[in-house]
Amino acid sequence: MWLNHGMNNDIERVTGCFYCHGTVVKVEDGKFDSKTWPNVGVGRINPDGSKGSCSSCHTRHKFSVAEARKPEACGQCHLGPDHPQIEIYKESKHGDIYDAEGHTWKWDSAPGTWTPGIDYRTPTCSVCHMSGINGVATSHDVTERLAWETQAPLTVRPSEFKPWPAKTDWRTERGKMKQVCLACHSPAWTDGHFEYFDAVVANYNDVYYKPMKKLSDELYEKKLMSKEKPLDEKLEIDLYELWHHEGRRARFGAAMMAPDYTWWHGFYEMKKRCMDIEEQAEKLLKSGKPGKVFDVRGAGGNTTKPKF
Ligand code: HEC
Ligand code: HEC
Ligand code: HEC
Ligand code: HEC
Ligand code: HEC
Repeated sequence: MWLNHGMNNDIERVTGCFYCHGTVVKVEDGKFDSKTWPNVGVGRINPDGSKGSCSSCHTRHKFSVAEARKPEACGQCHLGPDHPQIEIYKESKHGDIYDAEGHTWKWDSAPGTWTPGIDYRTPTCSVCHMSGINGVATSHDVTERLAWETQAPLTVRPSEFKPWPAKTDWRTERGKMKQVCLACHSPAWTDGHFEYFDAVVANYNDVYYKPMKKLSDELYEKKLMSKEKPLDEKLEIDLYELWHHEGRRARFGAAMMAPDYTWWHGFYEMKKRCMDIEEQAEKLLKSGKPGKVFDVRGAGGNTTKPKF
């Protein structure tokens, strides 16, 4: 997988990006290339050409379904400022109840027979995104059941997501996700949740992302910012964090019931970030002189995207 925006060097990439995402595992003269091994990133490309690392979720030797059904299996990668799903889950009522009584639930039922209300009382990541439930089939494709790509700068449908466009129809997938909720909640509760979530997505897109994107386009056009490298100007970092950090947290928090992430770590931070961006833009526009371009520490590597 191509993962280099030129901001990091080999060692930062191997110990950072590749650890979660995986990379193409290279073997030369019967030996693993240490820049690509060890590697348990989900998107690993194995030497035989097969895709993925099963041990990202089912660790070696045990290969346990029970382990993969628990949120901790996902939390290794789904955490932190830019994708805090495990923290969001822990804030939600679902996660609270899992913490309080999850140790008494039945975790090893056969796939398709793991039953809400009997084996477990609240959903884990796996229940909502992967497990068979209420007529929705078990799936290893975590893009299924999604109606949005809320990880993207401008929220788009999964089929329109440029890095990994999906072959799904968002209406069908939204139907499946609702079917998951309906195993335990009423239609009014379920529909109400998604109405608010979709409104949060529109609010983020229209009130925060689009106006800031328009402003930065103007600065690039007037040569007050430089497109030469993606993240070597202060304003570029601010624009990046707006969507990649607080912008995602607001959307993920609303999707998965964590108000602290929607508001304090999300919309509140976005308001502040937009003030910063607007203040810097105003200075550049007034002076008519481009801002400082940094020589980013530890940057390197080839940023040309290879053809697959
Ligand atoms: C801690 C694990 C982790 C690390 C480290 C990590 N990522 Fe990610 N990355 C993720 C997860 C999880 C997502 C999915 C985000 C979501 O949907 O919430 C993601 C999403 C992405 C995407 C798709 C999102 C988009 O909007 O374009 C790209 C590209 C990406 N990461 C690149 C990188 C690069 C480059 C690095 C290193 C500089 C990196 N990642 C480091 C876990 C990680
Ligand atoms: C993103 C995490 C994740 C990854 C990566 C993953 N699994 Fe799973 N797997 C799960 C979860 C969660 C379940 C339990 C689903 C359920 O509740 O029935 C599961 C269940 C299974 C099952 C039993 C259910 C079934 O569908 O038959 C098999 C077999 C399995 N996985 C094989 C694999 C293999 C082989 C790979 C690598 C190619 C892999 N898994 C990669 C999370 C994962
Ligand atoms: C080893 C790291 C790792 C683990 C463990 C992991 N993921 Fe991910 N996950 C990623 C990365 C990296 C991405 C983004 C790249 C991509 O979409 O292919 C991602 C993307 C996702 C997405 C978004 C897909 C999309 O199209 O936007 C979902 C949902 C998801 N994972 C759910 C899970 C669940 C549920 C588990 C646990 C059962 C899990 N992941 C375990 C690394 C991981
Ligand atoms: C109560 C069900 C539920 C639980 C539990 C849950 N999620 Fe989600 N998740 C959702 C919904 C709903 C969405 C938004 C779906 C859409 O796009 O319409 C979502 C979105 C996501 C996304 C964003 C994908 C994107 O790029 O837009 C990721 C990644 C993800 N969940 C991972 C996880 C992980 C990891 C856990 C556990 C720590 C988890 N989820 C727990 C329901 C759940
Ligand atoms: C396995 C059963 C189960 C599933 C599936 C499930 N939930 Fe829940 N949910 C619960 C339980 C139990 C509670 C706690 C209710 C209470 O207050 O007693 C809860 C609470 C909630 C709350 C209230 C949050 C709070 O902080 O009080 C919301 C909102 C919610 N669920 C939405 C959803 C949505 C949306 C889905 C589907 C994406 C979903 N749930 C799937 C069992 C489930």
